[in-house]
Amino acid sequence: MLNKITVVGAGNVGATAAQRLAEKNLARAVVMVDVVEGVPQGKALDQWQSGPVEGFDTRIYGTNDYELARDSEIFVVTAGIARKPGMSRDDLVKTNAGIVKTVCEQIARVAPKSIIIVVSNPLDVMCYVAMKASGFPRERVIGMAGVLDTARYRMFLAEAADVSVEDIQAMVLGGHGDSMVPLISYTSVSGIPISQLIPKDRLDQIVTRTKNGGAEIVAHLKTGSAYYAPSAAAVQMVEAIVLDKKRILPCAAWLQGEYGLTDVFCGVPCKLGRNGLEKIIEVMLTEQERKDLNTSAEAVRSVQAIVGI
Ligand code: LAC
Repeated sequence: MLNKITVVGAGNVGATAAQRLAEKNLARAVVMVDVVEGVPQGKALDQWQSGPVEGFDTRIYGTNDYELARDSEIFVVTAGIARKPGMSRDDLVKTNAGIVKTVCEQIARVAPKSIIIVVSNPLDVMCYVAMKASGFPRERVIGMAGVLDTARYRMFLAEAADVSVEDIQAMVLGGHGDSMVPLISYTSVSGIPISQLIPKDRLDQIVTRTKNGGAEIVAHLKTGSAYYAPSAAAVQMVEAIVLDKKRILPCAAWLQGEYGLTDVFCGVPCKLGRNGLEKIIEVMLTEQERKDLNTSAEAVRSVQAIVGI
């Protein structure tokens, strides 16, 4: 158990993440910081009061002041605006880059040894902004996208194969956008290659639905984007770090030659432990998968160029 985990942003993703962190007893204190006055305070008080029912002793604080976040071991950054129907994640880049930059400068000031998990969109580019603004090494700036995209993929596969989602092993790599790369060659049901259980055309449909997974939800909600699965995914990464589990999860990492890519954040298999990003695992890819990963990384790079840090 850690002393303190801070969630930046008390919107739907941030508040749901704070509640999940407390319910999992991952820290003595969970701090929720937001610029809006009253909202983090009110939500945190409400969440804290669910403790006796849910059985957690974690104290949840809401604040507008980073001082309360001082010395947090982990920050989950969800701050920023969400997209509306018809918008791509990249449309958010200018506004959210400014927000994430300010946030990460504050994080570096109050907790220079912390680990940052970025959730704000466009995800991969916001990781870049966070790394530049904090000055942290790549081991301590990790993006949440692959776990979410993979969760969607696994859910659709479980439904199609009519099996438990627990038995689906899979990984979605690449940037958190339409060009993400679900790895069919590494998808299995309890070790059975997925191609033996689901016909190719159905698999192709699932890959397409996975790529549009976020947009499908935005189209329904109209006034916001997904938050139950995104917060669950971020908390799974936090848990892997807090418990030093050495889990292999697809996360956005700053690549320095891995997969032939340099100076770009992109989703790849990462080992997460108490030191943050402990290792990037390089797996063998088919020629098509490698090509798709390159295309996805290039899409990230073009948005990264817009922020001009
Ligand atoms: C999604 C947003 C949160 O994929 O990026 O739902």
